[in-house]
Amino acid sequence: MKKLAQMVILLGLSSLILIFPLFASGTPEQAASGTQKTVEQVQLNNNIPSGDLEIFSWWAGDEGPALEALIKVFKAKYPKVNVINATVTGGSGVNAKAVLKTRMLGGDPPESFQVHAGQELIGTWVTAERMVDLTPLFEAEGWTDVFPEDLLKLLGTDDGIWSVPVNIHRSNVMWYIPANLKKWGVEAPTTWADFLKIAPQLQAKGVIPLSVGQTWTVNHLWESVALGVLGPEDYSALWEGEIPWTDNRVVDVWRTFAKVLDYTNKDAASLSWQQATDMVVNGKAAFNIMGDWAAGYMTTTLNLDPGKDYGWVPSPETKGTFMFLADSFGLPVGVENPDAAVAWLKTCGSLEGSDTFNPLKGSISARTDSDLSLYNAYLRSAASDFGSNRIVGSLAHGVVANEGFMNDFSTVMEMFLSSRDPQQAANACQAIAIQNGMIR
Ligand code: GAL
Repeated sequence: MKKLAQMVILLGLSSLILIFPLFASGTPEQAASGTQKTVEQVQLNNNIPSGDLEIFSWWAGDEGPALEALIKVFKAKYPKVNVINATVTGGSGVNAKAVLKTRMLGGDPPESFQVHAGQELIGTWVTAERMVDLTPLFEAEGWTDVFPEDLLKLLGTDDGIWSVPVNIHRSNVMWYIPANLKKWGVEAPTTWADFLKIAPQLQAKGVIPLSVGQTWTVNHLWESVALGVLGPEDYSALWEGEIPWTDNRVVDVWRTFAKVLDYTNKDAASLSWQQATDMVVNGKAAFNIMGDWAAGYMTTTLNLDPGKDYGWVPSPETKGTFMFLADSFGLPVGVENPDAAVAWLKTCGSLEGSDTFNPLKGSISARTDSDLSLYNAYLRSAASDFGSNRIVGSLAHGVVANEGFMNDFSTVMEMFLSSRDPQQAANACQAIAIQNGMIR
């Protein structure tokens, strides 16, 4: 109990340090419901954009090709603009988000930055009144008709629309190499019980059953386990604050998760998500659960053929549910070159931009009118599932929780990795959910 109290104090301090400067003018809830909101709207004009345009993201190195292709589309239309492709490497923005926060707080925003649709955008930057309302741009470009309504809800509030989506990624995918599974005499598991049954057999053959990398990839695995164990209804109810974290169903998630972790690689903390994927590709590991940027990596970077060289299934017990996230770009308040920023956002939301970017990225277009003939077998299957499955939001990629919660969740995860105590993790999550305004 004492340990838990210390942990809560520690978590409390860490979130205060992170959040206080952003929300110095009020708590998130006050700002969200307050009447004194100052909303700056984007100004549209006929100026020909020129000068510097800084685009900030974490799409560097292996993650870069899709963004570079999108920038090429932009350059062809706006040759007078000098694009500064500012990247801070590190999967899921672990490093980029911290740098961005410092820059935003220091009054040095880039013209546009990568941000996830949902709470990462709304519960972090919009709440802090750091974003420009893009409603006039959405109307001028006809985007309110072209992006799915449910996605628009995650980009907007009563006060405006705050970013332009460039894609839709799926989080709950299990990847494998069909030839290897055949060699080892196993099939991709459809339940966690199945996985726990075949895992010792794989281990006996010297194969790591499931590869993971640094902490955020463990969070990513956790959300898939949570979706599988809880089912889509309870998973969503958790984020609505309708099921407390201390509920036995949620404690059960942590119990199953602990068992799954027993079959992962010991060097996880030092591996990037690509290195965890590599373990599957080179036959060291049987499976990896990762978002479908892994398909982008395997196809675009490693030149593997989806469906032949690598295979995929929904992560165990999540068939019929598409855990989604969307990358988007927004316009911060106070940028130096708003004309170039608006031109960039136009490119992000355009059909040409989208159908250039997504086939390389391993994601499907956020637009409902995209040309599926440009997409490979994996992406066509993702598009079909997106159209027919139940949709829920990702935790690890900003849809269902704000950044304060996410940062604290990572701390809880680090503690769980050493304690493996499900009840303690559940209690700590309840505390951080309250602290970050997620339970009202
Ligand atoms: C996610 C992001 C993806 C991909 C991934 C790995 O958060 O939405 O586009 O970049 O991180 O870095």
